Amino acid sequence: MNPTARFLLGVVVGLAILPAALYLYVATGHAPVATADVAMPMETFFAKIGRKSRIKAEQPKRDLSTFSTADLAAGADIYQKDCAFCHGLPNQSKPDAAKGMFPHAPQLLDKEDMVTDDPVGESFWKVKNGIRLSGMPGFKQSLSETQMWQVSALLAKADQLPPEVSAKLQPKNVNINAPVNQ
Ligand code: HEC
Repeated sequence: MNPTARFLLGVVVGLAILPAALYLYVATGHAPVATADVAMPMETFFAKIGRKSRIKAEQPKRDLSTFSTADLAAGADIYQKDCAFCHGLPNQSKPDAAKGMFPHAPQLLDKEDMVTDDPVGESFWKVKNGIRLSGMPGFKQSLSETQMWQVSALLAKADQLPPEVSAKLQPKNVNINAPVNQ
């Protein structure tokens, strides 16, 4: 076989091996599917890059100063009802659901996990559309545009909430961490 033919054969075989190896890796049960598994090679990279560009292009803009205390208070009620189950409440231990999620559900009212540096429109996009394959639901079918802005503003101002709003973020009569049947 002449060198050019050998080279071309090498390229063809090389191209065929990669998808075959990938198929075998997944088909033989090696792909990480449990929430406690480590991420697949490049999984986090591709998920983050794709999401960032899409959200950057689509997020609406709104000035945080346009939200009143009443908006934040409404946001706190929505948070209690629809978000605390995964994202937790201030100064409480992580809710059960958050302990077993991959990617993990950030505790959005705890200092280390707050999204106060993100533009409010970015959180609005995430609340509206959700984050595919992460467990973060999209709420566009259950909350109004106003409600989605209110809860996003609550997160954007999480480190400077007025006392009457913080008061609404205490654990309710339903303790999400309480053992069942006691
Ligand atoms: C069933 C669990 C669950 C519920 C309920 C839930 N989320 Fe999430 N959320 C997640 C998970 C998991 C992530 C992390 C996604 C990721 O990192 O890819 C997330 C991510 C987010 C983020 C992005 C955080 C960041 O650091 O970029 C925001 C903002 C958010 N959620 C807001 C909300 C709001 C507001 C609600 C309620 C209206 C809500 N979520 C309800 C599971 C949940």
